[in-house]
Amino acid sequence: MTQLSVTNLLGIKHLNKDDITLIFKTADHFKEVINRPIKKVPSLRDITIANLFFENSTRTKLSFELAEKRLSADIINFSAAQSSVKKGESLIDTVNNILSMKVDIIVIRHPNEGASDFLSRHINAKIINAGDGAHEHPTQALLDSYSIREKLGSVKGKKVVIIGDILHSRVALSNIYTLQLLGAKIKLCGPTTLIPKHITKLGVGYENNLTKALEWCDVANVLRVQHERMDIKYFPSIREYTQLFGINKELLNSINKDIVIMHPGPINRGVEITSDVADSKQSIILNQVENGVAIRMAVIYLLAQQIKR
Ligand code: CP
Repeated sequence: MTQLSVTNLLGIKHLNKDDITLIFKTADHFKEVINRPIKKVPSLRDITIANLFFENSTRTKLSFELAEKRLSADIINFSAAQSSVKKGESLIDTVNNILSMKVDIIVIRHPNEGASDFLSRHINAKIINAGDGAHEHPTQALLDSYSIREKLGSVKGKKVVIIGDILHSRVALSNIYTLQLLGAKIKLCGPTTLIPKHITKLGVGYENNLTKALEWCDVANVLRVQHERMDIKYFPSIREYTQLFGINKELLNSINKDIVIMHPGPINRGVEITSDVADSKQSIILNQVENGVAIRMAVIYLLAQQIKR
């Protein structure tokens, strides 16, 4: 297989296992490229990409921008906070104005679930979802599984626990879809108030006890408590959350194996994870960030191959 089965990357839900295998194989090639002295290839010299960020981002925004530059695409960056969105311009008007400047691919992060899906039905450009509300964050999940594969040799059969605020997490849903396609076993761990009620229908387990969850797993993907998406209190206090669901070195040392620690960032140090765990040898948090560039190069490259020149 040399082509993706999809024409946009809106979510992992729309991908199949062959798509992920192709993305990983292409990312392997680009990972080798970005470790060369000259980290650039001319592949997308005729492609223009707009990065539209309606919500804050550090890793995803810079990683997409770097991936595009490494592929020699022309890029424009849009940040809603400094734009005419603040004067009331709609999403579709904003995007149509940008597209009239002859843009081929849109990368979009938006606080509303379904924003990238909505755009795909109204505009004639390729769309990559860089995170839509609490729905999906497909490139994050791809880089997460790619990093597990790099660290442990494969994803198939590995036991992965996703810990924390699952309810408000687009990373969790995209990770569940990806890990299932690749044959991993998945459990969720966190306060019951932060676990969506329908989630077990997706075929994942739930463990309320963090120590038991860590004893079970090969990989722990730790998520941030997303206060900005909460309009009510989901647990009594941060202190209690940390006591029950925070990972610290003492707890890790009490587990009789070297589990791999992941976090999509940004980290709340001292809340869901302590610094001595986040910065430990067991942590692959910065490898995830590094792999994000190769994964995004692969996704952009594969979608661009479908554009008629
Ligand atoms: N992991 C992630 O999406 O981080 P940013 O919000 O900084 O892009």
